[in-house]
Amino acid sequence: MSVWFITGVSNGFGLLLCLKALKANHRVVGTVRSKAKSADAVKRIESAGGQVIELDLNESRENLTRKVKAVGQIDYLVNNAGFLILGAVEQMSVELTSRSEREAHLQLQTNFFGPLYVIQAALEGMRVRRSGVIVSMSSLAAKEYVPTTGLYSASKAALEAMSESLAAEITEFGVSVLIVEPGSFRTNFLAALNQSTMPLPEDYQDTTVTRTRDVLLTKSGKQPGDPQKGVDRIFETLTGEGLAGHLKGKILRLVLGRDALVRIRKVNDKFLEDLALAEDVTVSTDL
Ligand SMILES: NC(=O)c1ccc[n+]([C@@H]2O[C@H](COP(=O)([O-])OP(=O)(O)OC[C@H]3O[C@@H](n4cnc5c(N)ncnc54)[C@H](OP(=O)(O)O)[C@@H]3O)[C@@H](O)[C@H]2O)c1
Ligand SMILES: *[C@@H]1O[C@H](CO)[C@@H](O)[C@H](O)[C@H]1NC(C)=O
Ligand SMILES: *[C@@H]1O[C@H](CO)[C@@H](O)[C@H](O)[C@H]1NC(C)=O
Ligand SMILES: *[C@@H]1O[C@H](CO)[C@@H](O)[C@H](O)[C@H]1NC(C)=O
Repeated sequence: MSVWFITGVSNGFGLLLCLKALKANHRVVGTVRSKAKSADAVKRIESAGGQVIELDLNESRENLTRKVKAVGQIDYLVNNAGFLILGAVEQMSVELTSRSEREAHLQLQTNFFGPLYVIQAALEGMRVRRSGVIVSMSSLAAKEYVPTTGLYSASKAALEAMSESLAAEITEFGVSVLIVEPGSFRTNFLAALNQSTMPLPEDYQDTTVTRTRDVLLTKSGKQPGDPQKGVDRIFETLTGEGLAGHLKGKILRLVLGRDALVRIRKVNDKFLEDLALAEDVTVSTDL
């Protein structure tokens, strides 16, 4: 039996992973922002033997630290909670205004700083025990940068970069990291997205920004990825069982979904093409 700490278990990947780990007789502590608002999920988790606490990734570092430390030993830390603020880079507010929050900050706070503080709080115990696994739920968006999701991509790319450095720092302590990059999965994710409350300058009408946004807003409920299969593969990769079990300890990144595979390959091909095209220029600057 291991102890799993999973953020964002009110829905989607988090809820399914919680139930999966409980079914395998692990101890699970999950987090939701509001137990009252997520009463159904809380009931399902608790009746399967799990525990749920309230935690908002936008809380202070002190609060997050206190809540994570209170759990005690954690074997699997799954930074799953996250959300998307949709908007053009120019539009996204960075100042506190009467009309809106600092949207760019909230996006980074929730998807990057919150998880960072949670990791920092859990790491001491793992380091001292010389065991533990940290899972960072990233996204295809950390690899493929498209209009209207720039700040979300920034938050996930930051999470990935930090997680990869972290993996190198803690491997000698017997603690490992798994970065998960899902494509588009049929969870509550797109229904829960927030659109920027700041006005989009008139110039952007009928540009790729409005077109991409409008297409994205029709995708909820039509995503190709099955969250249960996604969670099964994550669980197997972590525990060494089943279809993906052979990947345990062998990979740093787990890409999930055919859409993600195709699109990440395309991004990488373009990167290699640019590298090759500019090679003479690249090597022309050494002393
Ligand atoms: N579904 C996809 O296509 C997809 C693709 C790539 C990556 N991902 C990533 O997968 C992870 C799980 O998403 P999902 O698809 O399962 O979406 P979901 O069904 O919307 O679940 C997201 C979870 O995150 C929680 N959350 C949101 N904001 C939070 C905050 N400020 N503090 C604490 N918890 C917060 C939500 O809790 P509340 O109920 O309290 O809001 C919810 O439990 C996310 O990190 C997402 O970025 C999803
Ligand atoms: C996030 O935290 C900041 C700073 O404490 C606060 O001003 C803001 O209202 C919070 N936003 C949400 C959505 O909780
Ligand atoms: C920290 O937690 C306390 C007690 O639960 C709460 O009253 C306070 O609003 C939280 N602070 C922040 C910044 O989230
Ligand atoms: C995001 O959108 C959801 C659903 O529309 C809403 O309940 C929530 O208050 C919004 N969050 C912020 C920070 O605006």
